[in-house]
Amino acid sequence: MAGVAGKQGNHVTPQALQEFLTALNEEIHERADWGEVADYIPELADVDPAQFGIAVVLAHGTVCSAGAASKGFSIQSVSKVFSLGCVLGRIGEQIWTRVGREPSGSRFDSILLLELEKGRPRNPFINAGALVVTDELLTGRTPRDALSEIIGYIRAAAGDDDIHIDKAVAQSEEKTGDRNRALANYLKSYGNLKNPADYTLGTYFHQCAIEMNCLQLANAGRCIAGLPGAPMLLSETRARRITALMLTCGHYDESGDFAFRVGLAGKSGVGGGLLMVAPDRASIAIWSPGLNETGNSRAANYAAERLAQFTGWSIF
Ligand code: DON
Repeated sequence: MAGVAGKQGNHVTPQALQEFLTALNEEIHERADWGEVADYIPELADVDPAQFGIAVVLAHGTVCSAGAASKGFSIQSVSKVFSLGCVLGRIGEQIWTRVGREPSGSRFDSILLLELEKGRPRNPFINAGALVVTDELLTGRTPRDALSEIIGYIRAAAGDDDIHIDKAVAQSEEKTGDRNRALANYLKSYGNLKNPADYTLGTYFHQCAIEMNCLQLANAGRCIAGLPGAPMLLSETRARRITALMLTCGHYDESGDFAFRVGLAGKSGVGGGLLMVAPDRASIAIWSPGLNETGNSRAANYAAERLAQFTGWSIF
């Protein structure tokens, strides 16, 4: 990576960034430290881990990308950022009566704190909290309508209608989703699930199975990063609050380490996707399907750290 790294602060030019991303893609392939694909969702277990893509949308709209930036992947938990945006638009701050805003320090699918905290999940990004958000979006609607709302929101954010649900991935998770079923039923036992558990779970599995590529995801993140010209889907205050939750909770029990190493807010998914925002500067999507032991993409996390070093975009 000779000659490309270096703190650029506000002054990173699109050309320097493009050269950096091209070199970073080569470095990632040379390192070949891919991690393991998620195998608890059988459809994801078949994905080749040795893949990498990155796209960065800058404040003035320029897009830089490298690697497999146009290849679709399962966004999985990255969808939780957009379902939260949807529910805030729908019922506003009331959602916080059902879900908290604190990091859990536990795995994304942990049930431990739910008993201690009487069925109120710690935050909207762990599975239990995301199930509550999706359940709220189902209020007064069919699962089909709730899903249309979520995918419509993502399409509007990305400015791209060619975003769809991979039904094979949704069905695959449906078959093996016993842990999520346990979480949904546990929430129900505390009165924190309004709909039949199967409805909420079915909607949630389909929302997680939305397929996007890095270019689409980076565009969809513009409204969270507060970039000029982004679709008006979130108020500035809500965008900043979602960013705060991405920083504190977006990588589950690795959120502290991500903040320490990268210094930017990010939300990961077990499909290997990572949406990251540099407020007012850039929206970034990175994808590499091999995961580390916390269920976050190994190569995407490494790339995020390298990008933050190069650009000087850390918020700290
Ligand atoms: O509910 C699940 O387990 C998956 N659909 C999503 C989990 C996930 O992406 C966690 N992220 N790192």
